[in-house]
Amino acid sequence: MSKTLTKNLEADVKELYIHFFNSMFNADVETYKSFMAEEIHQIGTTLEEVYYNKNESGNYLERAVGPVAGKIEFRNRDIRMKVVDGLIGIIEKADCYINIDGAWTFYDNARVSSLLQKKKDGWKFVQQHISFPDSRTEEGQTVGLEKIKAENIQLRNAVKRRTKELENANRELENTLSKLKATQAQLIHSEKMASLGELTAGIAHEIQNPLNFVNNFSDVSAEMIGEIEEEIKKKKEERNELLMAEILQDIKENFQKINHHGKRADSIVKGMLDHSRTNGGERVLTNINSLADEYLRLSFHGMRAKNSDFQAHFETHFDPNLPKVNVIPQNIGRVLLNIINNAFQAIDNTDTGKKNPDFKPIVKVATRDLGDKIEIIIEDNGPGIPEEIKDKIFQPFFTTKPTGEGTGLGLSLSYDIIKAHGGDLEVESKLNEGSVFKITLTK
Ligand SMILES: Nc1ncnc2c1ncn2[C@@H]1O[C@H](COP(=O)(O)OP(=O)(O)OP(=O)(O)O)[C@@H](O)[C@H]1O
Ligand SMILES: [Mg+2]
Repeated sequence: MSKTLTKNLEADVKELYIHFFNSMFNADVETYKSFMAEEIHQIGTTLEEVYYNKNESGNYLERAVGPVAGKIEFRNRDIRMKVVDGLIGIIEKADCYINIDGAWTFYDNARVSSLLQKKKDGWKFVQQHISFPDSRTEEGQTVGLEKIKAENIQLRNAVKRRTKELENANRELENTLSKLKATQAQLIHSEKMASLGELTAGIAHEIQNPLNFVNNFSDVSAEMIGEIEEEIKKKKEERNELLMAEILQDIKENFQKINHHGKRADSIVKGMLDHSRTNGGERVLTNINSLADEYLRLSFHGMRAKNSDFQAHFETHFDPNLPKVNVIPQNIGRVLLNIINNAFQAIDNTDTGKKNPDFKPIVKVATRDLGDKIEIIIEDNGPGIPEEIKDKIFQPFFTTKPTGEGTGLGLSLSYDIIKAHGGDLEVESKLNEGSVFKITLTK
């Protein structure tokens, strides 16, 4: 016989082999025995199970498999055949399943090695060894059915215990979660209080400064008025008219200063009120393009009104298909105004612009649809923001502008408004190149 199996022979032997196992699993003793050579050597799964002929093996089948006939199955069978000295050797690895109370249950990994020899009446098993390498079978038992049942009960109990444990753990988690939520709420509250405290301290400090000026100038002015009164008391020819005119001029200037610092205090208080008002207002579906356009023009003309020499260009790059978003328009308008004002102020103060006649100060406002969000981009080609103040610009009262020109509340207010909308406000800036403020809002 050839050393290799022909396809036909392999198919025939495989069919026979499968048949053999079906008869074994069904405890069909006669069919089972018909596949065996008279002198088969067979080793079963336990120590005792060693048989030297087909009658012994048949008896074993009746005894051991009879009670579980039809309740054993090999699945995921890996069957390999090879010709060995004119015999056919078959090695099989499979998952053995057992039907317990109607449910097919994985029992063990099975390994079977068989040798078949060609006899007068066809191929017969002459050798076979069946084993469960990770066996649960005990001595004298062929299939540990009782053991599996017991194990299954244990398993079921273990699952029940585990479920209970998980339920308890879950309950604990839920408790922890609700405690966490409460703590978080407290934290948010105290954070608000802290930033309110910070704000109040800032306000006190900021207002103190103009108030000092107001107090000092009014004290000085009162003294000066006293001096004039002294002069008036004198006889006309002894009066120093020149001195009186000078003092009056000083008083006039003092009042201008008092007025200037009074207005400063006023704008600080207004800014503070803006901060506390950010929570009000109704959200409405808003066309961000027209809102941005409106505030861009408002800001530009505001700058012009304050300073008729103000020169700047502006451009808009609006996404024509930008969907409307649900926002509080007056608050988003305030943010846009603050940021666009900053941009115009930045290019207005550009030293390079003053030095370099080719410099073209420009503010660009663009919108973009990002899918689940929209983005508003405000870009200027001003001096940029130095790295060391980048993380301060959003703090209340942080300003680099001369006294009286900025309260430093613009960006802090803007940040609060955007956060209250669930959005983001970010800045990118390069020194001497300009700044880009990006607002993202969820649709
Ligand atoms: N586009 C920009 N270019 C350069 N610096 C900027 C720009 N925008 C903001 N800053 C810096 O951030 C600081 C804080 O800005 P913010 O708007 O909060 O206050 P402000 O403009 O100084 O005062 P206010 O807005 O209250 O009038 C500014 O003083 C400035 O130093
Ligand atoms: Mg500002």
